[in-house]
Amino acid sequence: MLVLAILLVSLRVILGHSSQVNNTNRIRCLEVERRALLKIKHELVDSHGRLSSWADDENAWDCCKWRGVHCHNRTNHVTRVDLHDPLAGDYYNRSPLRGKISTSLLELQHLRYLDLSFNDFEYAPIPEFIGSLTNLRYLKLALAHFSGPIPHHLGNLSKLLYLDLRNNYYCNSENLDWISSLGSLEYIDLSFTNLSKAYNWLQAVSKLTSIKELYLRGDLPEIPLSLIPEVNGSSPLGILDLSWKSQPWTPWTLIRWFSNISSTGLTYISLYRNGIPGPIPDVFETMISLAYLDLGINDLQGGIPKYFGNFSSLIGLYLDENNLKRDISDLMLNLSGPIEKKLEYLYLGGNNISGLFPNMSKFSSLSELKLQENRLNGSIREAYVQLHHLVSLDLSSNQLTGPIPELALSSSLKELYLSNNTFNGTLTESIGRLYELEVLWIGSNFLEGTITEAHMFNLSRLRILDLSLNSFLEVKFSLHWVPPFQLEYLSLRQCKLGKYFPMWLKTQKEIGYIDISSTGISDIIPSWFGGIAPKVFYLNTSNNQIHGLFPNFSLFTISLPGPVLPYFRLNLMTMDLSRNKISGPLTFLCNVKEWVLLDLSDNLFSGRIPDCFANFHKLTYLNLANNHFSGEIPYSFGALSALTLLHLRNNSLSGGLPTSMRNCTGLKMIDLGENRLSQKIPAWIGDSFPELIVLILRDNEFYGDIPSNLCRLANLQVLDISSNNVSGGIPDCLQDYSAMTKQQTRGSFSDIWALWEFPLPEAWHSVYTRSFESAYFMWKGKEVKYINHLGLVKLIDLSSNNLVGEIPYNITKLVGLVGLNVSRNNLVGPIPRDIGQLEFLNFLDCSRNHLSGCIPTGLGDLSHLGVLDLSYNNLSGNIPLTNQGLTFDESAYVGNAGLCGRPVNKSCPRDESDQDPYSRANGESEDDDDRFITEGFYTALGLGFVVGFWGIIGTTLLNKKF
Ligand SMILES: *[C@@H]1O[C@H](CO)[C@@H](O)[C@H](O)[C@H]1NC(C)=O
Ligand SMILES: *[C@@H]1O[C@H](CO)[C@@H](O)[C@H](O)[C@H]1NC(C)=O
Ligand SMILES: *[C@@H]1O[C@H](CO)[C@@H](O)[C@H](O)[C@H]1NC(C)=O
Ligand SMILES: *[C@@H]1O[C@H](CO)[C@@H](O)[C@H](O)[C@H]1NC(C)=O
Repeated sequence: MLVLAILLVSLRVILGHSSQVNNTNRIRCLEVERRALLKIKHELVDSHGRLSSWADDENAWDCCKWRGVHCHNRTNHVTRVDLHDPLAGDYYNRSPLRGKISTSLLELQHLRYLDLSFNDFEYAPIPEFIGSLTNLRYLKLALAHFSGPIPHHLGNLSKLLYLDLRNNYYCNSENLDWISSLGSLEYIDLSFTNLSKAYNWLQAVSKLTSIKELYLRGDLPEIPLSLIPEVNGSSPLGILDLSWKSQPWTPWTLIRWFSNISSTGLTYISLYRNGIPGPIPDVFETMISLAYLDLGINDLQGGIPKYFGNFSSLIGLYLDENNLKRDISDLMLNLSGPIEKKLEYLYLGGNNISGLFPNMSKFSSLSELKLQENRLNGSIREAYVQLHHLVSLDLSSNQLTGPIPELALSSSLKELYLSNNTFNGTLTESIGRLYELEVLWIGSNFLEGTITEAHMFNLSRLRILDLSLNSFLEVKFSLHWVPPFQLEYLSLRQCKLGKYFPMWLKTQKEIGYIDISSTGISDIIPSWFGGIAPKVFYLNTSNNQIHGLFPNFSLFTISLPGPVLPYFRLNLMTMDLSRNKISGPLTFLCNVKEWVLLDLSDNLFSGRIPDCFANFHKLTYLNLANNHFSGEIPYSFGALSALTLLHLRNNSLSGGLPTSMRNCTGLKMIDLGENRLSQKIPAWIGDSFPELIVLILRDNEFYGDIPSNLCRLANLQVLDISSNNVSGGIPDCLQDYSAMTKQQTRGSFSDIWALWEFPLPEAWHSVYTRSFESAYFMWKGKEVKYINHLGLVKLIDLSSNNLVGEIPYNITKLVGLVGLNVSRNNLVGPIPRDIGQLEFLNFLDCSRNHLSGCIPTGLGDLSHLGVLDLSYNNLSGNIPLTNQGLTFDESAYVGNAGLCGRPVNKSCPRDESDQDPYSRANGESEDDDDRFITEGFYTALGLGFVVGFWGIIGTTLLNKKF
């Protein structure tokens, strides 16, 4: 019976409900308003189909059911039109409406709520007629690409409660009088509109007697003290946001004024990014209702005033990125008292705070504690971080040491950032009990011991794991471990992973960022690796011994909702597989939507470079050096309009540079050395790459003349055409290499950073610098590598070609030149007399030509000259002494029968003549030369000029006998 009764009751409920549904199903929309809405739709451009429910057919007759439309439940008038783009924050899926706002909007006279935010009105003005919708209570036009003056007609909206025009960067208002009549207004946001001439903004704001929330981010005219209006009357102002000023100012008087007009007391003040100098004043002392105080990113000095301890309502205190310079124990002393109970957010990162980690346990509500980038030292006593409500702890980039504290009581902890300290010892398994943990970022420490599954046992919510740069730390998960988490970010760089490839990665379907570089893996690359990565946008396996075929992967197309940093949202692919033994063709390359950075150097890849670069407009760095690629450089390289660095050295590429590459106008470095390219040196290189700094064509089969267009590369610092079949003379326009005519500049490469359009992750930085700040230079058949200070290096290497004629005198204008190698050609004539002007010259090789005449005495004055080779020419006369009274080794001069003096063991006749014939007969051992290189370089290094590290990268082509 009971069951039946219940059934009957439920039936009634169901029937009743349905009939209600049918009731509301009846068409409520007023025809005239439906027509108006259709006209509105008609004038908009809806390329994403967001208004598809707004249809002119009988199935969709009831416009009250259309997306974003609401009608009054009795009068049936349209009261609400909400057309904001719900996906505006999602780079790949945002779907703004475009087009025009129809005057038909005026037919919706009962409209109370209008939201057109996050659309793209293509910099049209805000329609004046919106001011005639006098029933409006809510008007939101935020970030909608409007421009021009904000119509004062909006001042007619006397019932308006809420007005949001923020982030229409090209809108302006020179006079804010119109807001004075908005007597009901409770909320106004004019952030990031141009108010730079609205000198009366404070007068106007003072008339808003109902205002509760005021947002004026971005620049405002400063109000002279004498023009700050009297406080007469009050408003219920609680929230005041004056953040983001581009000029430093001191807003304290203003803040006091706002505090005085507020009848309820200010609860939220943001002066974030105001550049405010000086100490924190006493202006906040009376603001007892303050719940949030944001003073982040300013230039506040000194400490925290003692009265802060009395804030009994304060929930958030943000003082990050200032210049607070105190011992943390002083700061904490001033944060004693009523503040301790309620404070949840304490941001003190990026200051100059020193001292031992203090006892934080008194802040019983603390949820986020940020002390990163300070100078805290010593170890952390566990009792000091027993915080039951802690959710986020950031102590990264300090000098903390000792073991990582157990956070046993902080079971709600979600984020733990301890990287870049000197924590040592082992990580206890208790970390695994923090089952809410999402971020574990403990890289760059001195942790040791072994991390196993036991540490990770309960961490089912972990998204971000960074153990990198703990070079003593072993990470040992069993081969078939199935982790409880799905990571989005993993960095194990420079941890010890052991021989085997981390098989557990196979289970990580959400992962976007993988760095397992320098981890000691010497395993075959598993075939599933190609399918691991539907969301991967950063993959770094460099510097291991990974071998086998690189699997073909086909996914890499889905955008990742970025957790870590905003640019992670862009579906751009960065891959660094360099320094492994990976083989196979490059077909996988073509499956990726957007490359940014691709480094496959030092592997065993082979086959042709596929011709599928046409869509890679963002590819900035391409390094395929030291592989076994053959075939031609693909024509589609011409589409790489963002390409900055191109390394193809040491492959077996043939053909030439495709003419399409004239479009790669951003190139700064081209290294095509050690291939089989066979082409006349294209003259267009000189016209197409105005930013080129490094051009290396070495050891190919380029032929023809050196085109004089090459001299137009005014930024060029390294020109290496050595070991080709280039003939003709050295162009007489070398003085146009204006970068080389300047003396050494430090840091010229860091300037390049400024040109990047978006910030780069740390890891990119290293790959970028690795490429850019290294160059090779040939020295007697050995390849010598300069690292770290390419900014200091200016080189010309034309050696081992068939060049004829004289060394142009203009070369002595390149006073920044560090290395000059014209050896092994057929040059004649003298060494330019003023070679001594090249005062930074570090090595000079003119050997094996037919140069004649004397050695200019200025050569002896070159105090930086570490390496000199003039052997096997027709030089004659005295060998000049350096100004230290030394000379170079005999091998620098052999094969010049006419030379005399030290060190060639032939004394000079009184009246010297240079008639001794050139003789190649006395064969020299090349081994002597080796010794000479080494000593020469050390000498040079000793002179401190070419700073940094050098190495000899194996013997290459010039072991061919000449
Ligand atoms: C609601 O009304 C429609 C026709 O207007 C009808 O087909 C449908 O059966 C009704 N639903 C209920 C649950 O009465
Ligand atoms: C109509 O809407 C008002 C406010 O939105 C609400 O309070 C009221 O209950 C609604 N009336 C009906 C019949 O749904
Ligand atoms: C590491 O911390 C030091 C200060 O302790 C800071 O200068 C450096 O930039 C930090 N490095 C990183 C990578 O954050
Ligand atoms: C950690 O470093 C501190 C300070 O450098 C040192 O005293 C301590 O012995 C180290 N602990 C371990 C386990 O290495």
